Amino acid sequence: MDIALAILLTLLLGLLMAKLALFQPRNRNSPPCISGWIPWFGAAFQFGKAPLEFIEQARVKYGPVFTVFALGNRFTFVTEEEGIEAFFTSKDLDFEQAVQPTIQRTIKASIPADIFYRNHTRLYLTIKGKVSLSRLYLFAGTLCKELHEHMDHLGTSGTENLSDLIRSVMYPATINILFGKGVCPTNKSDMKEFEGHFQKYDEDFEYASQMPAYFMSNWSKSKKWLLKMFENVVSDAERVSRPESDSKTVLQHLLDNVHGKHLAPNYALLLLWASQANAMPVAFWTLAFILSHPSIYKNIMEDIVSVFGKAGKENIEVSEDDLKKLLLIKWCILEAIRLRSPGAITKKVVNPLKIQTFTIPAGDMLMVSPYWAHRNTKYFPDPETFKPDRWKEANLEKNAFLDGFMAFGRGKHQCPGRWLAVMEVHMLVVLLLYKYELILLDPVPKESPLHLVGTQQPMGACRVQYKPRQ
Ligand code: HEM
Repeated sequence: MDIALAILLTLLLGLLMAKLALFQPRNRNSPPCISGWIPWFGAAFQFGKAPLEFIEQARVKYGPVFTVFALGNRFTFVTEEEGIEAFFTSKDLDFEQAVQPTIQRTIKASIPADIFYRNHTRLYLTIKGKVSLSRLYLFAGTLCKELHEHMDHLGTSGTENLSDLIRSVMYPATINILFGKGVCPTNKSDMKEFEGHFQKYDEDFEYASQMPAYFMSNWSKSKKWLLKMFENVVSDAERVSRPESDSKTVLQHLLDNVHGKHLAPNYALLLLWASQANAMPVAFWTLAFILSHPSIYKNIMEDIVSVFGKAGKENIEVSEDDLKKLLLIKWCILEAIRLRSPGAITKKVVNPLKIQTFTIPAGDMLMVSPYWAHRNTKYFPDPETFKPDRWKEANLEKNAFLDGFMAFGRGKHQCPGRWLAVMEVHMLVVLLLYKYELILLDPVPKESPLHLVGTQQPMGACRVQYKPRQ
């Protein structure tokens, strides 16, 4: 008993000493640090339980700049204008160094740093060029056809979980436009298995980016399955000769530009995740908000009828120009994105950075929360309310968002797929509402408190009834 007690005391003393050694502030001017008391884990448990709420409570308690120590890393949040401005413009911050560990863990590739950086720049520019605003017209026709094809599987009427309904139509359609028709399994039965693995991969992506693979066995199985699928996809794509530039798919461009061909399946998986993980929940929230606001729903239906005539069964062709006339739906999409945007985006501090009276040490991860920034009343009065009209003020003709909006990041690393995502959701909403009368059977769920990365996911199911428009 005495020995056990002595061991316990020694352990506790060891932990305390380790804590003291590890948590010495590196600089007197460092921001306040929430570190918990367990070495290395730090505040991971409290933070991980409900990270979004944690950030807001910490802001109220510690002020606009604070650090959270968790899983051996220091995450410094900046929540006011000066810090947010520095986040998007400072040369003392690096985007690639922040995302490299996440990418290495989540696509299972140990990529030497120089190859990682070279690939990152090349692939970013490739995707940006391929899905830029001026080229969206190249996707519009095929996207519309694909959405119709997969909507046909819904039949004339039914009841479905809204997320499942969206996924069953949007997944195969968007995968076919990015990767090429029939390249990934998109028929109904293969799709089920594919969707199951992708959902698992997406759900735990955030934990997997922080935790050793050992703790993530189901997630690792799904990742392996997806990588195997992409190995086949890539080897099939390599066997056929690639067409000239304009008709190449995004996958084919990726294959042409990736450095180290063996990494192509890993990057294809990353592209799949980047393109699906946000667009799906954005479509969910957009429809859920529209359907739960009867006057907005009514105005949208009037707009649709004014462009396409009486809504009904016919398979309408929707062009980019038609979408431009349906501005209220676009405002609803942007408003849904504003309200449910990512909990955090990250950069690595590479040189000490001064913000207000604080010096943020090199090595910290600097964090901005678009989710909370979008609740700043200076830019978004009555911030919790779904008000698509506020987007009237945005110069959307010049493709500018509202001041204070940052769901896609900003500047050099802004999301290259943002306009494609908006077009995908826009077209899906038009086609669904034209063809079906949709009625929500459950209240709109709250957002799940569990995630920081990517668009917020709904907490729980929300059923929708769909029936033919008369
Ligand atoms: C509404 C849907 C979407 C949202 C909210 C979204 C949001 C974001 C955000 C916040 C970032 C990181 C920016 C930063 O950290 O500064 C990002 C990066 C990225 N997104 Fe999106 N995204 C969406 C759709 C898409 C789509 C459809 C694609 C692909 C076609 C895509 C491809 C990418 C890629 C490749 C990056 C990485 C950029 C880089 O590494 O520099 N995204 N996105």
